[in-house]
Amino acid sequence: MEALRGTYDLYDKEILIHMEIVNTLKEIAQTYNFDEIKTPLIEKTELFSRTTGNSSDIVRKEMYSFLDKGDRNISLRPELTAGVVRSFLSNKIYGKRQSQYKFFYYGEAFRYERPQKGRYRQFHQFGVEMFGDETVYSDVEVILMASSIIKKLGLENKVKLKINTIGSAAERRLYSDILRNHFKNYKDDMCDDCKSRLEINPLRILDCKIDNNKEYIKDAPQLKNNLNTSSLKRYAEVLVLLDDLGIEYEEDTTLVRGLDYYNDIVFEFVYDNTHTLIGGGRYDTLVDEIGNINMPAIGFGIGIERIVEAFKEQHKEYVSTIEKTIDVMYVGLTEKAYPIILKSMNKLREEGVICSCLYNKSGLKGNLKEALRLNSIYLVIIGEDEIEKGEVTVKNLITQEEQALKLANFEEDILNIKD
Ligand code: HAM
Repeated sequence: MEALRGTYDLYDKEILIHMEIVNTLKEIAQTYNFDEIKTPLIEKTELFSRTTGNSSDIVRKEMYSFLDKGDRNISLRPELTAGVVRSFLSNKIYGKRQSQYKFFYYGEAFRYERPQKGRYRQFHQFGVEMFGDETVYSDVEVILMASSIIKKLGLENKVKLKINTIGSAAERRLYSDILRNHFKNYKDDMCDDCKSRLEINPLRILDCKIDNNKEYIKDAPQLKNNLNTSSLKRYAEVLVLLDDLGIEYEEDTTLVRGLDYYNDIVFEFVYDNTHTLIGGGRYDTLVDEIGNINMPAIGFGIGIERIVEAFKEQHKEYVSTIEKTIDVMYVGLTEKAYPIILKSMNKLREEGVICSCLYNKSGLKGNLKEALRLNSIYLVIIGEDEIEKGEVTVKNLITQEEQALKLANFEEDILNIKD
């Protein structure tokens, strides 16, 4: 039986690369003083319709929703921000501490999309959310963090930061009417999705992947010209701070993001002009809409599959060196050796040494082959002769040196040589 369309299994070298990248992201998040949070994969469907947004493609077409055995309407999370906001509210985290709450997360998300390169139905996101800080400095710090991730992964030459301001919800409502007015004359020319976006959310017509080269999109009235001075001032301040930090960006007036909750600053880090690796922005009204608490917020989400793919493309040589290694491979040449091996491995493992043994009497040749496949450093051979003499043969597979050590305490010698 095959894995479901749009899903895949992660094992062998792929999981090593995936986790190496995730661990790098976690380390960076910790240097920014973000704390890890883990929320459920399933939530009430209502949470996503109220946060991600009824007018987003995600909620309208891509959710895995079902009634559970208690007739509750449940969905697999299509993104992680909504769950973090729910958790922030339901655990009353906001009342417990100071004025700034910073979280990072890593986990699966599910969207019923048409699978293609970099687009899965089950994928992983790493993200951060910062609550409680409405300053432009928090905007810039979060963007800086995403930018340092790109740099740390050595992708800066291939990735562009696109940035825009989408103003407040009230400003967007007015602008939506202006856009609707402009676009209504071109309805016949539009893809089916845009036809329905015209009513539901005309801003999304601006970043339609199908119609993006059409003249009526290029000629559309710009949001920037319909924003008030405080929105524009904030945007200008963010750009000055980014300049000051030497962070390159491209202003993109068509960037509106696919989720409904954003306001003011939105941004994306785009790889090779095609795949968005990181998407985020400010969402100051969401916590209030769900929990009646005034709590500004900003964050971003990274598609791990996409960032892994980009990393593999840009670092082919390094990726070829990522391999599983073990410290000691034990070879039992007689049944009597195995109980001794079990004890010995236990001693070494308690000291953090990675050990393994094939209990199949595949002989020295078979074991050696496996030891080499696993990039083992030492081979420990225990046969009839060795047991009789109270010895073990230890072979260093890198230097090819071989020595006989005392069966009673050879583990100490291994620990000493290993150090
Ligand atoms: P998003 O742009 O929908 O934003 O997703 C973030 C990232 O997840 C995308 O840039 C992309 O790399 C990855 N992604 C999305 N869909 C797929 C897919 N089907 N297959 C593989 N990767 C995918 C959010 O989800 C927001 N929650 C981000 C955020 C956090 N905004 C504020 N805080």
